[in-house]
Amino acid sequence: MSIDVVILAAGQGSRMKSSLPKVLHKLAGKPMVLHVIDQAKQLANSSIHVVVGHGADQVEAALANEECGFYLQAEQKGTGHAVAQAVPGLRAEGVTLVLYGDVPLTPASVFESMVQTAQQGKVALLTVKLDDPTGYGRIIRSAVNDVVGIVEQKDANPEQLAITEVNTGIMAMPTSHLIEWLPQLSSNNAQGEYYLTDLIAMAANAGISVQAQHPESEYEVQGVNNRRQLAELERWYQLQQANRLMDAGVTLADPTRIDVRGELVVGSDVEIDINFIAEGSVKIGSGVTIGPNCVIKDAVIGDNVEILANSHIDGASVAAGCQIGPYARLRPGSDLAAGAKAGNFVEIKKAKIGEGSKVNHLTYIGDAVIGKGANIGAGTITCNYDGVNKSLTEIGDNAFIGSNSSLVAPVKVGAGATIGAGSTITSEVGDEELSVARGKQRNIAGWQRPVKKS
Ligand code: UD1
Ligand code: CA
Repeated sequence: MSIDVVILAAGQGSRMKSSLPKVLHKLAGKPMVLHVIDQAKQLANSSIHVVVGHGADQVEAALANEECGFYLQAEQKGTGHAVAQAVPGLRAEGVTLVLYGDVPLTPASVFESMVQTAQQGKVALLTVKLDDPTGYGRIIRSAVNDVVGIVEQKDANPEQLAITEVNTGIMAMPTSHLIEWLPQLSSNNAQGEYYLTDLIAMAANAGISVQAQHPESEYEVQGVNNRRQLAELERWYQLQQANRLMDAGVTLADPTRIDVRGELVVGSDVEIDINFIAEGSVKIGSGVTIGPNCVIKDAVIGDNVEILANSHIDGASVAAGCQIGPYARLRPGSDLAAGAKAGNFVEIKKAKIGEGSKVNHLTYIGDAVIGKGANIGAGTITCNYDGVNKSLTEIGDNAFIGSNSSLVAPVKVGAGATIGAGSTITSEVGDEELSVARGKQRNIAGWQRPVKKS
């Protein structure tokens, strides 16, 4: 049976005090509305419909790569009115799930069970009991405890205000009912809005059962209205990530000081010190240790790699047993073979570093291919850019590059070659050759220093 998911994202979010539409504010590095879409996508056979209004252009641009339809709600006349905008895109024979672009952390499993309820011809409503229900719609139940309606805070009498079971807003139902009931909504209420919530009483009056379902945690249904709430959800989300990692065999120096902004897959017996940030898609093998203040983005880290403090790895592949840092920077296209080393203040970009090769200190390696067992001395620079083009530096197996050498690309240094410290290499050095390309040292005995003119 077809599943249509309607995501409301038309509100202004004025309490964010932002020029960015609320649903585009990021949680764990990803716009809130994309969290909702990514979970909704896990429902098989689902089509996604996004209702946009405030900042519609920005929202549509941010979701340009998503397979979803957009419906403009030019004026915000209430949640019922918002859902009505998407009706032309809905398939009457299926079910519809209503979600919110500013409620980012409801897991797909909750959607799944609500959709199943709707597929049985019933209405599924996600509710939660809150110690402080202020502001939310209250769930009205009958004498036999059936859900029979929702009363908004502003329309509620004191007795109803005392109810602590509230509406999260998330509901699912057969689409045929939705299409039948939406036109019957009236705005005759305290806010003069078309309330989606009024559908619940319509269902009850029509003898259609309303099943309340509940999230595992309040955070799963919490909406974001201001930046404090966004930060609160971010911390909860990150704590879930930390718990997941620890359950998978990772030691975290402090579970409150790790942020996962994307997907992090980790082997066993990994130790992560404080202030670790993982972004994008990161795979870390077993036995890896990560020092404090490291950032790893879109990278694959092999087994038993040691990453020392303050290292930054982006778009790199680091094979087993490598040692990185402290203060190393691996940029996109860095590819380190097993047992290689990139030490302090070393920057590597688009370069292969062969097995066991060492680049230990204060060096820039860009657009290069380095063989096995090479030693790149402190302060070596591959001069890869002439201001217009990038060129390649090739260094053979077991080459030894003396400190403070400049390798002006395109250039090749053969296997087993040695470069004298301070050389500027502009042409090919053959295998096993020594190349010294620097001013020759002259010593002048008895040198008189200049004296100051009177
Ligand atoms: C709504 C529910 C309330 C529930 C609460 C949970 C209604 C009438 N009330 O109240 O029962 O407890 O959510 O947070 O549904 N939106 C639009 N277009 C509109 C109006 C709203 O897209 O015309 C979007 C908003 O951007 C927001 C969401 O719908 O994401 C909820 O709207 P809001 O006005 O905040 O509803 P509440 O008053 O909080
Ligand atoms: Ca709200």
